[in-house]
Amino acid sequence: MTLNMVVNRKPVSVEIEPYARLLDVLRTQLKLTGAKEGCGIGECGACTVILDGETVDSCITLAASCEGKSIETIEGISDGDQLHPVQQAFVEHNAMQCGFCIPGLVLSGKNILDKYPEADRERIVEAISGNLCRCTGYKQVVDAIEDAKDKIDE
Ligand code: FES
Ligand code: FES
Repeated sequence: MTLNMVVNRKPVSVEIEPYARLLDVLRTQLKLTGAKEGCGIGECGACTVILDGETVDSCITLAASCEGKSIETIEGISDGDQLHPVQQAFVEHNAMQCGFCIPGLVLSGKNILDKYPEADRERIVEAISGNLCRCTGYKQVVDAIEDAKDKIDE
């Protein structure tokens, strides 16, 4: 079947199997490998993307259900060489170690600030609660997202 979506603001059309997972279509067919596969069962958030303004686990999202929808991946949030403020804040706060979880965490952080520009720390913590990280301990991650809030406001 043919799947039509808008990915990172560009219309795309791909031939997929009806049972294909969104994660596989993104990584294998569209070569957008920022979304990672950790658990594959919707538990870790490594595969997070933004689907019509909501974060989803792309490993448990049927690609066919995305017909006509808009998807943002980590590859689409910078502005050329200019990192998105959330990405930049992660760098400045050293909010990463192995990096496997980071695309998902950045997208969850970006999305909560898109929806709630004044999000407080509690809301940010809740927003990233589905993104598991085995390395950072989360403090730097939450600090970075809070800091990015101020940068976006500037
Ligand atoms: S790989 Fe999708 S939630 Fe873990
Ligand atoms: S930085 Fe290693 S899992 Fe998060």
